[in-house]
Amino acid sequence: MILITGASGSVGKVVLQEANRKESKVRAMYRSKEEAAKAPSGCEAVLADYSDKQSLGNALNGVTSVYVVCSPIPQLVELESNMLDACKEAGVKHVVLNSALGAGDYAKSFPGWHRKVEDKLKATKMSYTILRPNGFLQNIVAYNAPSIRAQGAFYVAMGDARVSYLDVGDIAVVAVKALQGGAHAGKTYELNGPEAISNQELAKRISKAAGRTVNYVDIPESAQRGVMLGLGMPEWQVTALLELQQYYKQGGGAKTDGLLKTLIERAPMTLDQYLTANAREFRDQAASA
Ligand SMILES: NC(=O)c1ccc[n+]([C@@H]2O[C@H](COP(=O)([O-])OP(=O)(O)OC[C@H]3O[C@@H](n4cnc5c(N)ncnc54)[C@H](OP(=O)(O)O)[C@@H]3O)[C@@H](O)[C@H]2O)c1
Repeated sequence: MILITGASGSVGKVVLQEANRKESKVRAMYRSKEEAAKAPSGCEAVLADYSDKQSLGNALNGVTSVYVVCSPIPQLVELESNMLDACKEAGVKHVVLNSALGAGDYAKSFPGWHRKVEDKLKATKMSYTILRPNGFLQNIVAYNAPSIRAQGAFYVAMGDARVSYLDVGDIAVVAVKALQGGAHAGKTYELNGPEAISNQELAKRISKAAGRTVNYVDIPESAQRGVMLGLGMPEWQVTALLELQQYYKQGGGAKTDGLLKTLIERAPMTLDQYLTANAREFRDQAASA
């Protein structure tokens, strides 16, 4: 039995779909009954919370491999550590940990938190595979589309920093293969998309896909901080996002290599494919109504 945690989340949901397609015995872990009711047919749903040890023991009953993921929150280290302890106690054979690019060389922000969990996982002596994905293509719609729809622009303090975005569906293919252990055991995979894209280039590509002019406005970090705080985002989250952007500005997100293609045994999703499939998300809905 394979357990997929975070089954309601952006990447966990897609890992679950892939696992359900490829494996016969899949259990999906949710925190709420409402989300559990959405579990795809063919897989078991279980309710559990990383902060509730007993619920984890129940979720892990009969489980041999686990995909571990948590929201990018400061409690991630403690919550995922609880899960790793529970996996060890339950005799789980192999753990696939969803970490983040930068965990190897950037001690701040989300990568710094993920690194602590990676170290904890290694210390348990369980068999593991660590996935360190670069930025998700799906962030482009989640973060940039609202102001593009409203104002034809997106505003970020990233200069000409480049990010090799990748698709969560491609991460899911790697995760499900890695859940088998085997040759993936003991490996840490840094997963990059096929192209390192600056925001200037991103604006051009979105303009082409959406059929309207979209501009990238490079704002000062203090202005971005003010906007995010004004939107009600917590201070810790604003700081973590700006620190991650610093990592990108230092060139940390600009790597490209053939690893993802090799692991998924086909070409990874490209930015243009993603933008074409999501073009309507960038159009002024009022104008096109
Ligand atoms: N976005 C990126 O570009 C990117 C890049 C590299 C790495 N990452 C990493 O990928 C990870 C997942 O990101 P995401 O966007 O998929 O996050 P997400 O959408 O917030 O999903 C996180 C999942 O974790 C679950 N969860 C949260 N707290 C939990 C708890 N106490 N017990 C059990 N489950 C809990 C959530 O359940 P609920 O629905 O109940 O809250 C949700 O299913 C993050 O750690 C992030 O740092 C993201």
